[in-house]
Amino acid sequence: MCGIVGYVGSRDTVGVLLGGLKRLEYRGYDSAGVAVIGGDGELHTAKKAGKLGMLQDELAQHPLAAGVTGIGHTRWATHGGPTDVNAHPHLGDDGKLALIHNGIIENFADLKAELLAQGVAFDSETDTEVAAKLLGVEYARTHDLRASFRTVLKRLHGAFTLLAVHRDEPGVVVAARRNSPLVIGLGEGENFLGSDVAAFIEFTRRAVAIGQDEMVVITPDSVTVTDFDGTPVAFEPFEVQWDASAAEKGGWSSFMLKEITEEPEAVADTLRERIHDGDVLVPELAALGEEALRDVDRIIVVAAGTASYAGQVGTYAIETWARVPVDVQLAHEFRYRDPVVGPNTLVVSISQSGETMDTLMAVKHARELGARTISICNTQGATIPRESDAALYTHAGPEVAVASTKAFVAQITALYLLGLHLARVKGTLSLGERREMLDELLAVPEKIRFAIGEHERVAELAHWMGSASAVLFLGRHVGYPIALEGALKLKELAYIHAEGFAAGELKHGPIALIEPGLPVFVLVPSPRHSEEMHRKVISNIQEIRARGARVIAIAEQADAAVLPFADEVIALPLAGKFFEPLIAVVPLQLFALELATAKGLDVDQPRNLAKSVTVE
Ligand code: F6R
Repeated sequence: MCGIVGYVGSRDTVGVLLGGLKRLEYRGYDSAGVAVIGGDGELHTAKKAGKLGMLQDELAQHPLAAGVTGIGHTRWATHGGPTDVNAHPHLGDDGKLALIHNGIIENFADLKAELLAQGVAFDSETDTEVAAKLLGVEYARTHDLRASFRTVLKRLHGAFTLLAVHRDEPGVVVAARRNSPLVIGLGEGENFLGSDVAAFIEFTRRAVAIGQDEMVVITPDSVTVTDFDGTPVAFEPFEVQWDASAAEKGGWSSFMLKEITEEPEAVADTLRERIHDGDVLVPELAALGEEALRDVDRIIVVAAGTASYAGQVGTYAIETWARVPVDVQLAHEFRYRDPVVGPNTLVVSISQSGETMDTLMAVKHARELGARTISICNTQGATIPRESDAALYTHAGPEVAVASTKAFVAQITALYLLGLHLARVKGTLSLGERREMLDELLAVPEKIRFAIGEHERVAELAHWMGSASAVLFLGRHVGYPIALEGALKLKELAYIHAEGFAAGELKHGPIALIEPGLPVFVLVPSPRHSEEMHRKVISNIQEIRARGARVIAIAEQADAAVLPFADEVIALPLAGKFFEPLIAVVPLQLFALELATAKGLDVDQPRNLAKSVTVE
């Protein structure tokens, strides 16, 4: 939430900031702003409510003075609506200092009262302006940006990434983070800061992830990292594994469509290097030790939204393969339910961004309770993997569209690797059984390609459903979380009331919702895996057809039994019973995308949402 960019160097600073903000816009798009210390020695700012394009138009009409130091921000509003005044940067020290912020300053009201009592005036309703004004007061006293910034940091409670510049210290950007992301981009004669590496990937792939409660000072030729007391902290640069083109739309109509088409590679790349001599071996899990993994007697998956549905899909296979009970708990609920966690509990967090505050806090809580923790994450250097005992990275590449798609299939793949690794360590599956499952996994990318090939047919369906005011999704077993995911995608992209249900639950209440013409997607498991389950789902279809609903079945190609009962069938290749979700989710993602597009909506940046939810 909120994208942050900082730059010192000799390039066109406004251009660098706007380019970075463009690539970070998925983090928030309520308003945007930049501040630059110009060659004239003055601080210049521009900020605008609305998407980044509004700020770009403003800057095209009223360009800022060229400068070599600057900060930029794209906002997802928390305190104060999305207006020009509430947009960042906020100013202090009589307009000589600018500050931007991601997070929530929880004690802002107390600090504001203190500053008001000193006669400091405020322009906005934001918590951020309090930090800017406090820094201004401190700077006026000390004339030392680093020292005054440190003093301010120690007074703030809550979550923050802060960047600040002062007119009287050109060539310097100070920054700090607590519970909110910050990375440095290392250049030659220039340095960068960003909420994530996308901010500067066009210029450098050498990055440094900043730890909790650390402060950074960048100049064109130096990078200093300290704690909030000024004690130096050693840092280790890493090389970003993708380049700028991976985070660009290219010729695609949307990032979301581009990312759906990248799903086969997301699965294949996540498997790569983790299968050796026909068996699973996830080197990253060595950090936990084989004995600890053997002793695991309970797994709790913590995650939010789509990532939690990936977790739900994973539970079925992991329990079957490793014979360990697995629960999925929403990260924001886990913390407050007094969970039963022991030393042999493995808490597996799933997060595409690795920055979701709810999930981060759940991981910290699990560690405090003595659990071992593994992070399944798609973002190198992110906070959650750093806070976990081991990190199992998904290799889906940068996901820019706000709605998660390729990360979802990569997360399920990673969970399956974890399940098979556990099964090997615990001896619950034979080598032959593990190989069979790995072969199924390796065949998934091609089957996803087939599902993507059904795009046009799905688009037609979306077209005739354009006026639907509600859509239901039903599934059993691993199809159930896919029903939940299908409904979530439709809600967030097309703003349609959509619900996912376990098909067996229908008769316990939700069947009252069925009315003539209501579109209902049903995930039909292949009869080749379980005739009984297949029969039950066909009965569910008949129950809803009898009440006039329009049934769209997502079924296996050879499943002729479903044809007489469904209005429409999207036929997919046969996949092993645990692997069906990886294929079946694709038409549901495409359906939400097409319906939203048909309604003229922005599929990459749905209203009110932001990727990477860094507030609780
Ligand atoms: C939905 C979606 C969200 C995220 C959730 C967790 O399309 O993207 O539900 O899955 O906010 O985000 P991460 O995975 O970054 O922790």
